Amino acid sequence: MSTVTQPAIGLDVRQIGGRIGAEIHGVDLRTELDDAVFAEINSALLRFKALVFRGQHLDDEQQLRFASRFGPLTTAHPTVPSIEGQPNILPVDGDEGVRANQWHTDVTFVQSPPKVSTLRAVVIPPYGGNTLIASTGGAYRDLPEPLRVLADTLYAVHTNDYDYVQPQFANESAAEYHKLFVSRRYQTAHPVVRVHPETGERGLFIGGFAQRIVRLSGTESRDILRLLQAYVTRPENVLRVQWNAGDLVVFDNRITQHYAPDDYGDQQRSLFRVTVAGDVPTGVDGSPSRIVEGDAASHYTPTQS
Ligand code: SIN
Repeated sequence: MSTVTQPAIGLDVRQIGGRIGAEIHGVDLRTELDDAVFAEINSALLRFKALVFRGQHLDDEQQLRFASRFGPLTTAHPTVPSIEGQPNILPVDGDEGVRANQWHTDVTFVQSPPKVSTLRAVVIPPYGGNTLIASTGGAYRDLPEPLRVLADTLYAVHTNDYDYVQPQFANESAAEYHKLFVSRRYQTAHPVVRVHPETGERGLFIGGFAQRIVRLSGTESRDILRLLQAYVTRPENVLRVQWNAGDLVVFDNRITQHYAPDDYGDQQRSLFRVTVAGDVPTGVDGSPSRIVEGDAASHYTPTQS
């Protein structure tokens, strides 16, 4: 363990979006953080949902150490391999055809999706390649009351087996990636409105992996999901992060969605993702998510036995 600690002063939290997002200055994440500093970062995360730390230039171990302050880490992904020798680090290379240009919350197809995601930028194209992060709490509050009442009662089935990567439109490596992505099939019914376990805030818990609403037809499901999702992606609810190599972004996966625009052609973009294990979501009536197909993905999330 490093002997360098960060003094419990000087953390500079600058709000950068009306409803989501803050930049944090005055902290060096390469060092072992003092508990008081970490507590401030954690409360900023709960308040602002997405935090941007500029110019941190963390290495693998430093990203792992910082992410694990939020709790036990997941392995890289339930089906996609980690980088060599680092079972908790997922490469986000953005090869053509495998870009995350769909609104989603990370890994919601398992019963316990990660609570926090950390993304570290290593190579960033000279233009484009931003990440958009949306507040699903803002989206829920924007719903007219009759829609809120409806949403409160719904459950949606999330699965990894859908057209996230469409092999018929992409290249061979995209087809390979798709095969890997669905090599183990998961389906989980989550509440459409999730109550945040720490703040009690309600948020729309849908996104790309949510493919149908329990007890509704495919057409009804698509219409309702599209209607609700339109509130998530309202510009008021969205933060756009323009990366520089060396930046680290942290978001609360329990109350956000994100999207990586595919707007940088064949230029290189390389990020590393480390996620923190989460709990089983609960809806407004306290009911937990339940597995429809697959297992509890205990190889992925250490909170499940
Ligand atoms: C992700 O979905 O975790 C990746 C986001 C990004 O590439 O910006």
